[in-house]
Amino acid sequence: MNALVTLPPQSQLAVAPARFDAVSRAFHWISVALIVVLFASAWSLSLARDGEEAAQLLTLHRSLGVTIWVVALARLTWRLRFAVRPPLPRSLPAAQRLAAAVTEGALYVLMLVQPITGLVQSLARGKPFQLFIFEAPRVMARDKPLVSLFHEIHEATAWLLLGLIGLHVAAALFHGLVRRDGVLRSMAPWPARSTRP
Ligand code: HEM
Ligand code: HEM
Repeated sequence: MNALVTLPPQSQLAVAPARFDAVSRAFHWISVALIVVLFASAWSLSLARDGEEAAQLLTLHRSLGVTIWVVALARLTWRLRFAVRPPLPRSLPAAQRLAAAVTEGALYVLMLVQPITGLVQSLARGKPFQLFIFEAPRVMARDKPLVSLFHEIHEATAWLLLGLIGLHVAAALFHGLVRRDGVLRSMAPWPARSTRP
């Protein structure tokens, strides 16, 4: 007869996890890839050879922009309800813990707000536009001042997002290369290296 040995839940919780769960890590790196393509597509608009190429880039930008909104919402729901999150090292000063929490919270907020400012800007242009294979309908007449306002907001929050990403990546590399405290490894996209033969 096969004896199935399972650990009681309390002993599973006795040791703090060393890594984020696989779903959280997948969400993290999918978001990173989307954001890279979002900035690349927005910035290459001015390099487009003709109107058709520019329109394709803008469709890619808008479609992935809406995708990251959905991904960020799903990710936040996962984080609040199911995620396994390793605690930051106890040796980390309180100010750095606070900085990490504020930066990461602001990144979540911007991943949700940035697509909305882009969407409002697009809707205010008063024309239908493509999102993947779907067509977003015209919902209002062209409103030039609203387009300009939301273009400016969208641009400013994009820079804010970029600045926060810069701080966040610098902190992650500081943990990985200087402190070597396992924080960077906790979010690595690959599976944990097994210590068993
Ligand atoms: C996290 C998501 C997003 C990021 C990081 C992002 C980033 C950017 C950036 C950096 C620009 C260039 C701003 C400038 O220098 O003028 C831009 C422009 C723009 N974005 Fe987004 N965006 C996002 C989502 C969206 C979404 C969801 C839409 C619409 C559905 C959208 C529509 C636009 C439009 C219409 C422009 C102006 C393009 C032009 O100059 O004609 N964006 N975006
Ligand atoms: C588009 C760029 C990025 C965004 C928007 C982003 C966003 C986030 C967010 C929101 C969290 C918090 C996760 C949670 O607790 O639910 C996080 C954690 C983390 N990220 Fe990023 N990230 C980006 C790029 C990177 C890169 C390039 C690295 C590595 C070099 C990195 C390393 C980490 C690490 C190590 C953590 C865990 C930190 C902790 O335990 O508090 N991130 N990231």
